[in-house]
Amino acid sequence: MARINDNYLKLQAGYLFPEISRRISEFTQANPEASVIRLGIGDVTKPLVPAVLKAFHEGVDEMSSGATFHGYGPEQGYDWLSQIIIDKAYKPLGVDLKTSEMFISDGSKCDSSNILDIFDLSNKVAIGDPVYPVYNDTNVMVGRSGQMNDAGYYEGLVYMPCTEENGFNPDFPTEKVDLIYLCFPNNPTGTVATREQLKGWVDYAIGNDAVILFDAAYEAFITDPDIPHSIYEIEGARRCAIEFRSFSKTAGFTGVRCGLTIVPEELLGTTIEGEKYSFNKLWNRRQCTKFNGVSYPVQKAAAAVYSDEGWTQVQEIIDYYMENARVIREGLSAAGIECFGGINAPYIWLKTPEGMTSWDFFDKLLNDCFIVGTPGSGFGPSGEGYFRLSAFGERKNVETAVLRIKEKWGK
Ligand code: MLT
Repeated sequence: MARINDNYLKLQAGYLFPEISRRISEFTQANPEASVIRLGIGDVTKPLVPAVLKAFHEGVDEMSSGATFHGYGPEQGYDWLSQIIIDKAYKPLGVDLKTSEMFISDGSKCDSSNILDIFDLSNKVAIGDPVYPVYNDTNVMVGRSGQMNDAGYYEGLVYMPCTEENGFNPDFPTEKVDLIYLCFPNNPTGTVATREQLKGWVDYAIGNDAVILFDAAYEAFITDPDIPHSIYEIEGARRCAIEFRSFSKTAGFTGVRCGLTIVPEELLGTTIEGEKYSFNKLWNRRQCTKFNGVSYPVQKAAAAVYSDEGWTQVQEIIDYYMENARVIREGLSAAGIECFGGINAPYIWLKTPEGMTSWDFFDKLLNDCFIVGTPGSGFGPSGEGYFRLSAFGERKNVETAVLRIKEKWGK
């Protein structure tokens, strides 16, 4: 009989969001009349904007005629899309990239997991705590960890606590690591890193021969003009960082699937013999072997996000979600609930009232207020006592949710 990958058995529970869905469906089956408001998983609620939809349709129509049909595209994505992203999203930041450094993909969740293919298992990995669970779980799945200990940490992984004391910006790891995951604006805490803080990370990575895996999936939600959108705005980052970006939250592509990964040419690792080797070449090799590219209509739709019309429409929706974030943050703060994030990110990280555990608060919020959020402890032990609300809902629902919470816990 074929042996299973036993590393999967080290994962203590199901993936966080399916577990939440399970609890919601249990609740709704028992309470079919309850009007449940979902502010849990960060899934968008607004449809694709007209400019994107038009390009998407055109892309599909082109597939209907032999003259304009597209079969396999480049595994790295079409050059015209990479060039548009470089010109519209990176050049204005003062960041110059080559199209050969950009790899269009089906999303940054997949890329931030798949990237592990090009790193030896012996590499020591540092992740935040709390953290987007994908970074933790995929390292366990590939066998980089031992079992989970009683405190909820996997042996062999290095955790960097993100707490109120350090402003949810982790301190440098206390031991030598080779890979460091950073996510800014942060999921789940909604906090951002300043230019100085990111410079600190880049200097640290260069000084310690480490690679930063920088998840910038939420960069479009930054409202403060001084906060960097890309790690490559920091000098030296091309030598030490890989960046992930996503169209999911920026342009409502959670169900469409498109993201990108930047692997700069200067980023080098070492072979077993100690010779330097390009990660860009390895990632290219990986993608060519395991991935057949994103569909043509989706890439057409992604390009339309950066048209003048598309960007104006997309920005309106981003502003809408950020207004939701303000409503949640200010409403709950007025009710005496301590809130973080929600200014440069679509997530509000709140301290559970009355010292409840995160899951107790989840159950109470669902049972008493019919509201779904995400328990902080689901993102790691340091998330215990916290709770995440997403700003991606409909305004009316967000306002109702805030009212219900105020009625229940307002002081
Ligand atoms: C979240 O809620 O954390 C995100 O939606 C998860 C994701 O982007 O995969």
